[in-house]
Amino acid sequence: MNKNSENISAWKRFMKSMTKAHDLGTEEDIMLDHDYDGIKELDNVLPPWWLAGFYITIAISIFYYIQVFYNSEEYSQAEEFATEIAEGKAQVEAYKAANPQLFDDSNIVALTDEESLAKGKALFTEKTCFACHLADLGGSIGPNLTDNKWILGGDVKSIFNTISKGGRPGKGMIAWESTISREERIQLASYIVSMQGTQPATPKAPEGDITWPEE
Ligand code: HEC
Repeated sequence: MNKNSENISAWKRFMKSMTKAHDLGTEEDIMLDHDYDGIKELDNVLPPWWLAGFYITIAISIFYYIQVFYNSEEYSQAEEFATEIAEGKAQVEAYKAANPQLFDDSNIVALTDEESLAKGKALFTEKTCFACHLADLGGSIGPNLTDNKWILGGDVKSIFNTISKGGRPGKGMIAWESTISREERIQLASYIVSMQGTQPATPKAPEGDITWPEE
């Protein structure tokens, strides 16, 4: 026998001891007597490798229980829960502090960065605003949004409020707060502010008694 075949048989012996698999061809020895419509069952033993894992988990559970029992002052699920909740709350507070305009209308300021204005412009098309106000905001069914005359107010907070809550009843400007996210409404309002004073192709005559920016 050369070294290789010795290795193979050692491996085979090891596998056999780990699996206790019944030799093929001798299944008759471990066949159980019951027969379900031709389906028969072999009485195989549980493989030792599996049983070993099972016993190890039992042993670990005993040590685990003991350590939880003795260390419950320092480490408990309740404490872990409280710590995680506190961490989560701190993260929420930090997010609120970093994004005040998302949580309180009185904190809204017009965004001026290019990315936000580009998003506002895209939303103006995507959310169908252009259908009534025209793509250059000159106005058709809805009023011109580039002049300084406003029905409901032209500062960013008023514009945000109009987009969120809608115009006067029956005029056609619906409340968008249930269909457009708060962040997107801020982007839309900022875009409209940024279009202040531009020259649309066919501007609709000024409407409204509120002048903003004031002359
Ligand atoms: C179906 C037509 C229609 C659509 C769509 C529409 N609007 Fe309007 N919008 C109007 C009308 C009409 C008014 C005037 C409301 C009033 O008289 O109370 C108005 C008013 C406004 C005002 C206030 C103008 C002022 O003078 O105070 C703003 C701002 C505005 N719309 C923004 C938007 C935005 C942003 C969108 C898209 C999310 C949008 N609108 C979609 C018809 C529309």
